[in-house]
Amino acid sequence: MRRSKLEDADAIYGLYVETAAVPGGLARCRDEITPTYIHTFLRRCIGDGLSLVAVDDGGRVVGEVHASRCGLKVFGHVLTDLTISVHPACQSHGWGRQLFERFIEVVTEEMPEIRRIELSARESNTRAIRFYESLGFVAEGRLRGRVYGVGGRYEDDIQMGWLRSPASES
Ligand SMILES: CC(C)(COP(=O)(O)OP(=O)(O)OC[C@H]1O[C@@H](n2cnc3c(N)ncnc32)[C@H](O)[C@@H]1OP(=O)(O)O)[C@@H](O)C(=O)NCCC(=O)NCCS
Repeated sequence: MRRSKLEDADAIYGLYVETAAVPGGLARCRDEITPTYIHTFLRRCIGDGLSLVAVDDGGRVVGEVHASRCGLKVFGHVLTDLTISVHPACQSHGWGRQLFERFIEVVTEEMPEIRRIELSARESNTRAIRFYESLGFVAEGRLRGRVYGVGGRYEDDIQMGWLRSPASES
């Protein structure tokens, strides 16, 4: 696990293309993953947020997680829109948990100004929701019918938040 660099953009693009090709996970569809999308979030998160990649023994990027601040001072303590992606061939082998635990560790230890992390997940992605809960996220809200999901069904978007625990405040 390491911080992402701008030079990782091509590898991260390949990763997101593969992950988005499987419906029901990432919000973006395959054709909405573009080099511009990747460059934009990478630049934003490296500059004003956090992006980490998981790299396997062969040097391939098999996972990525990122979130950033939105730019307003009142939300300066918030990392928002967290997105995590593990290559479909590598899912369910512990990469996602390692990556996300490291993300929280870096925020806790190296980003004392950050007190809150936000993400959302479609209600049918129950495995991902349980995963986030196991990392300390709490389901805080439900945006009804927000996601146009697989099979043309509208489903709720679950808003989740993580708060820095008082014990880890510096
Ligand atoms: C969700 C995701 C990041 C988890 O990473 P992973 O490497 O597959 O997960 P791990 O092997 O570390 O397992 C962590 C948890 O993720 C969940 N998980 C595993 N495979 C998953 C999958 N294919 N889809 C959703 N959740 C999955 C499991 O509940 C697991 O919990 P457990 O450790 O108690 O068994 C990854 O599966 C993924 O990229 N899925 C597709 C994209 C997506 O759904 N992103 C999140 C959108 S909100």
